[in-house]
Amino acid sequence: MMVHIPGVLDRAEAAQSLTDLQNADWVDGRVTAGYQSAQVKANRQVPEGHPAARRVGERVVAALNRNPLFISAALPHRIFPPLFNRYGPGENFGSHVDNAIRQVPGTGLRIRTDLSATLFLTDPDDYDGGELVIEDTYGTHAVKLPAGDMVVYPSTSLHHVRAVTRGERISSFFWIQSIVRDDGQRTLLFNMDQAIQRLGTDHPDHPSFTAMTAVYHNLIRQWAEL
Ligand code: NI
Repeated sequence: MMVHIPGVLDRAEAAQSLTDLQNADWVDGRVTAGYQSAQVKANRQVPEGHPAARRVGERVVAALNRNPLFISAALPHRIFPPLFNRYGPGENFGSHVDNAIRQVPGTGLRIRTDLSATLFLTDPDDYDGGELVIEDTYGTHAVKLPAGDMVVYPSTSLHHVRAVTRGERISSFFWIQSIVRDDGQRTLLFNMDQAIQRLGTDHPDHPSFTAMTAVYHNLIRQWAEL
């Protein structure tokens, strides 16, 4: 399931993040690519562990941890420290699937990539091209969002980034290991949680609200892996 999470960062936070990243050293994006994806990747990245990446990454993770839509959709167990990429004219990233396991730099911790996330930091007006295109069983979806908005999608999906033809596209990208590994189960829980929240708003005293909330938590108890 692909979910659009609006306003993870507000406009001021997104602008501040771009300023913070401006002075970072940008290197060839193939540093984090696997063998296949390195063949099709042409962009630049801030090196993992760079102070600017760490500062902005902490801002992103703090924002995610207080975002109810993200929590409901991703059911996050571990979030990989955010990385940052930049595409100028002619740069693109051909079709690939993200590596299944990623080691968090400087730690022994490994993350299974259940969900991939792209948080847009530049506004769509500032560049042409650069759409993130996600392929799933329903076809392809071209995603280009306002600064501060994010998309999460199953890491099992093939995806690519179309060439930028004007301006620059700067984004944060990272992965999430979910407490619920299976995308189908996670989608059911997300749909159920959204319905329960509407029920709680419209009929807070209805006994079904309590009953459905119990079922939701008991399904998580069945399916969670920690
Ligand atoms: Ni990718």
